[in-house]
Amino acid sequence: MINIKYLSHSFGRYWALKNISFSLDKGDFLFLTGPSGAGKTTLMRLLHGSLPLQRGMVSIAGFDLKSMPLRKLHLLRRQVSIVFQDFRILPDRTVWDNVALPLLVRGMVKSQIQKRVRAVLRSLRLDKKSWCLCREISGGEQQRVAVARAVVVNPKVLLADEPTGNLDRKLALQLLEVFRQFHIHGTTIIFATHNEELIKSQPQAKILCLKDGGIVDSNWPLEGVEI
Ligand SMILES: Nc1ncnc2c1ncn2[C@@H]1O[C@H](COP(=O)(O)OP(=O)(O)OP(=O)(O)O)[C@@H](O)[C@H]1O
Ligand SMILES: [Mg+2]
Repeated sequence: MINIKYLSHSFGRYWALKNISFSLDKGDFLFLTGPSGAGKTTLMRLLHGSLPLQRGMVSIAGFDLKSMPLRKLHLLRRQVSIVFQDFRILPDRTVWDNVALPLLVRGMVKSQIQKRVRAVLRSLRLDKKSWCLCREISGGEQQRVAVARAVVVNPKVLLADEPTGNLDRKLALQLLEVFRQFHIHGTTIIFATHNEELIKSQPQAKILCLKDGGIVDSNWPLEGVEI
């Protein structure tokens, strides 16, 4: 489902990712960890096509990012959803509108949209906030709106960049349960987090630790990586 080889990325002279290689199968759940500045967000943005590929190879959900023309990016985004670390939801629109938007863009019929949005908002305990403007809800609620918007399209790959960062312990565990439900239905998930408790609660998950742009630890053998 995801195959990354010799991936490097620089911002000016600074190498944020250095020669990263790993693969994930369909239905894998990966926790991406590592200290601040390790390169987690950079990796997520590359996988989502939000940063151009500079060096190396990435194939994801059947798309080869090296040869894929920009005009096909929207097709990649149909299969690969992201929850950005800084949410990127529309503050002047309601919770409902934010979550319905990706389905509207896909041309889904209204009755289907209503059904899906209602179910996702309920699973994230946002149903009572449906008609609130996003700028008027709490940071933790905004974070859950960002998750709702990413999962509502039933993506093949779900990239979540510290989606529990603003949540208390109980909400973080509830949110992880939402991800687990998608995982059970075959979605491949990359979940960036510093939260040890969440990681320990999923003993079957893969774990990859980045530091200074390189892989420094993993709980499964990686070809060509000596740890
Ligand atoms: N747009 C940018 N321009 C310049 N440098 C950048 C840019 N984005 C990231 N970097 C640098 O690249 C490195 C990796 O950043 P990245 O955001 O990927 O780290 P991270 O692991 O997600 O950290 P955090 O846990 O704080 O979110 C950092 O040193 C950062 O300062
Ligand atoms: Mg980050």
